[in-house]
Amino acid sequence: MLGTVTTQTSDQQHVRQPQPAPSAAPGNPQPVRSLLILGASGDLTGRLLFPGLARLIATGRHEGLTIVGAGHEDWSAEQWSERVHDATAAALAESTPEGRAELERIRQESRYVQLDVTAPGALAGIIAELPAPAAVYFALPPQIAQKACETLNPHDLPEGTRLALEKPFGSSAASAAALNETLRALLPEQQIHRVDHFLGKGTVLNILGLRFANNFLEPVWNRDHIEKVEIFFDEDLALEGRAGYYDRAGALRDMIQSHLLHVMAILAMDAPARLDERDLRDAISSVLRAARVEKPFDATTRRARYAAGSIAGRSIPDYTAEEGVDATRGTETLAEITVTLASWRWAGVPFILRSGKALGMRRKEAIVTFKPVPHLPEGFTGVDEPNRLRIGFGPDVLQLDVDINGPGDVMTLNRVTLDADLSETDLLPYGEVLEGILNADPLLSVRGDTAENCWSIVDPVLAAWAADEVPMDTYPAGSAGPSGWATSAPGEDGAGGRLSGPETAGDA
Ligand code: BG6
Repeated sequence: MLGTVTTQTSDQQHVRQPQPAPSAAPGNPQPVRSLLILGASGDLTGRLLFPGLARLIATGRHEGLTIVGAGHEDWSAEQWSERVHDATAAALAESTPEGRAELERIRQESRYVQLDVTAPGALAGIIAELPAPAAVYFALPPQIAQKACETLNPHDLPEGTRLALEKPFGSSAASAAALNETLRALLPEQQIHRVDHFLGKGTVLNILGLRFANNFLEPVWNRDHIEKVEIFFDEDLALEGRAGYYDRAGALRDMIQSHLLHVMAILAMDAPARLDERDLRDAISSVLRAARVEKPFDATTRRARYAAGSIAGRSIPDYTAEEGVDATRGTETLAEITVTLASWRWAGVPFILRSGKALGMRRKEAIVTFKPVPHLPEGFTGVDEPNRLRIGFGPDVLQLDVDINGPGDVMTLNRVTLDADLSETDLLPYGEVLEGILNADPLLSVRGDTAENCWSIVDPVLAAWAADEVPMDTYPAGSAGPSGWATSAPGEDGAGGRLSGPETAGDA
């Protein structure tokens, strides 16, 4: 049975007027005038960056931007133009009149330069030609980003320059610390944007409103009332030709180390005084500083790799037979870790984070399972199940499972779900994050200490996996995961995970 909650706005109490956008780095609120994308011939630029940027421009939210793409490939002007046109077509079709003119201009004027970013002076030379202030977006693997930054000197960066670094930021706590050191020698922290596009997802940001603009949750949002918190991101996509990156990353580095740890931090944090970069990022950081995966890792972590199978009628080869995969790397395509938080609020509550590829169903949600009632009055029949709050990251929904009595026998308990669709934001997640970069606001960017911290949480697990301390399980592509895992059998173990059916549209 499905209850429905309709959302309505009240014009009566506590109406908060929109506040001006939080100011950016002190003394440097000037919006960005040019964007240099490094790695512009790569997949990320065409698939995510340009579409996100195009929607932002198409809604009239940023004007007068000069865009230059740089890549190691020798692309012609036509090749670049084709990339820009393809990646901006959808946004153009939905643009406002002013946005349309601006996007048309960008489609005409943006240009591509061939560049070896690691060559001394090359990157500085391009930056010097751009209208200042510029944002330089490193859509590059972390080792190349590190080398590129090492070619720069502070005087190469005009006032107001911003450096944006795509994830993964480093490949361990040590390499992230080294990259931070290089960056901080160039610019203050507030001009450095470490990108995690989950921080730009509307539903992830909705957690803030749900938790901190309602009074009913906070008194029960703790170890006394919550049994466990699960964060799932099961994808029905397989490798999709990304072996070059993914085979060196795997599910733990690709999804959990960055995205899911941030979702966890937002679910677990204390209320910040205000939604500005300092307070919000302090609150996130304090959760992640308290987070650890306890030993023994064969009890708190699991890994698996998909074998041949099929998804929605599509044949998927064994992971190790995918083009570009080196089986000796032992890369996992499904990872699960149980994180504990050393705090009064959360001591003893497991946070179970799981993500993987080539699963039969998309399951992208956080589930908060509450403890059972302390005493169920005698006389009820039926099953009393714990309350569950689900926050879906696609489809974007909020659901609360509750037990009520009736219909039929009024003393028989029945499950109902209060269900609300969460409205989508105007921008794509990359657009939200880029808007912060262009407006010189690091609110939705990962802070340097947090980036290192996320690695410190998973580094010991990665070392144990590399030493084969945890077995590599197998699951057929298209299945729900290895049969021995409780999280692969939603509903049966009481976890109650609700699978959403495969959708035809591909993932972003
Ligand atoms: C990316 C990962 O960061 O996030 C991908 O590299 C993953 O492997 C993607 O598919 C998921 O995010 P979204 O927004 O596409 O659902």
